[in-house]
Amino acid sequence: MDQRVNIQPVEKVKSWLPWIGHGLQFIKDADKLMAQCYAKHGHEFQLTLGGRKVTVLLNPHDIATIFGESKRLTGEALNAEISLKVFGMDYQYFNSNKQWAFHSLSQDFAKHLRGDALDEMTQVMHQHMEDAMFRRVGEQPFEGQLFDFVGRLIVEAGGEAMFGQGFAEDADQLYDDFALIDDHFQSFIGGTPKWLVRGARKAEQRLNARFGNIRKGQAKVMDSRFKLVQGADSFKMAQQDTAMFWAAQSNTVAIAAYTVFHVMRDPAVKEIIVQEVTAAVQKSSATTRLAKPLITQGVLDKMPKLDAVIDETLRLYSTGFNMRQIAQTVEQRIDSVDIGLDSGRVLSLDAAEFVAIYPRFMHMHPDIYSRPEQFQWDRFLGKQGPNKFSYQSKPIKNSLSVFGGGVGMCPGRHFARNEFKLIVAALINDFDLEILDATIPANDTNRVGLGSYRPLQDIPFTCRIRG
Ligand code: HEM
Repeated sequence: MDQRVNIQPVEKVKSWLPWIGHGLQFIKDADKLMAQCYAKHGHEFQLTLGGRKVTVLLNPHDIATIFGESKRLTGEALNAEISLKVFGMDYQYFNSNKQWAFHSLSQDFAKHLRGDALDEMTQVMHQHMEDAMFRRVGEQPFEGQLFDFVGRLIVEAGGEAMFGQGFAEDADQLYDDFALIDDHFQSFIGGTPKWLVRGARKAEQRLNARFGNIRKGQAKVMDSRFKLVQGADSFKMAQQDTAMFWAAQSNTVAIAAYTVFHVMRDPAVKEIIVQEVTAAVQKSSATTRLAKPLITQGVLDKMPKLDAVIDETLRLYSTGFNMRQIAQTVEQRIDSVDIGLDSGRVLSLDAAEFVAIYPRFMHMHPDIYSRPEQFQWDRFLGKQGPNKFSYQSKPIKNSLSVFGGGVGMCPGRHFARNEFKLIVAALINDFDLEILDATIPANDTNRVGLGSYRPLQDIPFTCRIRG
C-alpha cells in the first residue's frame, strides 16, 4: 500500500505566547508538560519552542526509527547554531572542507575512543586522577561539596588524558572557566550575549587559549584530529576544541557525581560495589606511580554491578531532547520526508519543521520501569543491551537512550563509562568517603535538553585517605 495514504498531521498544542510558545513550560517542568500533552493528544503532537514547530514523539518504539533515519534527518544545523552562539564556533568553515567536516571528525573520534587507544587513555586518566585525589584530599579529613569535588577531578584528569600534558596545570582555573560557561549554557543558547554574564568572555578566552596546539602525551584521538584538520585556522580549531571539551565534560561530570552519590549514600549498595571493585582491582598486573594497582580496561570490564548502577543513574538523571530536521546538502535539497511511526501513522515532515524525541518519557514510564522515581541499583543487572524491557507488550530496541543514535551517536560514550567507573574505583581503593546528607536532591530543571540534570543544591560529604 502507498505509505502516503496514511499521512495524518499531528495535533498542534495551543499556546498563548507567540514565538516562545511552550518554551517556558518546557524549561520549568518538561516532564509535566509532556505528561499533560500525552493525556490530551497521545504519543504524537506538535509544540512551539522558540519559534520552531516541533513534532514530539513520545512512543518509545519510535526512538529507534528517528535515529535510524540519521541520513535524512539530522541535528547538525541546530548544533551549528548552538556552537556559534555559545563558543563562536564556525561550523560552516569546517564543513566547507570534506576532510574537516564535522561528521568525518566525529567518525574519527569514534574510531579512537575504543579498543587499545581507549585503554591507554583510561590508564593515563587513572594516573592523573590518583594524583589529583591525593592532592585535593590531603592529610586532613576533607570536607566539601560532592558535585564540585567530582567535577574538578573529572575535568582535570579527563582533560589531561585527552588533551595532553600540562593542559590542566592550573586545574582550578580550568574548572571555574568550564563551570561558568556550563552554568549559563541554557541562557547563551537563548541568545544572552557573553558580555552580560560577568567573567564569561574572559573564561571563553582562557579556554580557547589552551587549545589549537598539539601537546605532548595527548590521546590518539587528538593526534588523529590534528592530522585530519591540518591547515585549518588555529583559532577556529581552538574554538572547536573548546566546544568538544564542553561536550566531553558537561554530562560526564554530572553523571559521575550522581554515580558516586548513589554508591556511597546507601550502605547496602556501597558494600556490594566495594566488594566487586576491590576484587577486580586486585587482579590488576600493573601499578601506578604511587605503586597502587593500575586501573585498566580489563579491570573495569570486571565490574558488572557497577555498570548496573551507572545505567540506573543514567536512566534517572538523563534529560535529552533530541531534535532533528531534514538534512539539506549542497548537492540535494529535500522538500519533505515521510516517516512511518509505530502507531501506523505516517508523519510528513517539511523542511521548516522539526521532529524530536524525549527519551525521559520512556525512562520514567511505570509500565517499563516499575516505580520509576526510585533508584534501584540492580534494575539493569544482566539486562544491559537491546530488547530487555517492553512497552505495550513489545520489546523496546533501546530502552536506555542517553547517547543519541545513528551517525551522530556520541563517540565518547565508552570513555564516559570508563570515567564513571574509574572515579568510583579510585575512591574505593584509597579513601573513605561519607555522604553527610543522603536526601536525594531536587533536579535543576533548567538543564532540560542539555543531556543530564544537576541537583539544585550540592551535596556535602567528607573524605579521608584510608590509613
Ligand atoms: C554522560 C556522558 C555523555 C553523554 C550523556 C553524552 C551524550 C551525547 C549526545 C546525546 C550526543 C548527541 C548524539 C546525537 O545527536 O545523536 C553527543 C555527541 C557528542 N559527544 Fe557525547 N556524551 C557524553 C560524554 C562524552 C565524552 C566523554 C566525549 C568525548 C570524549 C563526548 C564527545 C561527544 C562528541 C564529540 C559529540 C558530537 C558528535 C557529533 O555531533 O557527530 N561525549 N554526546
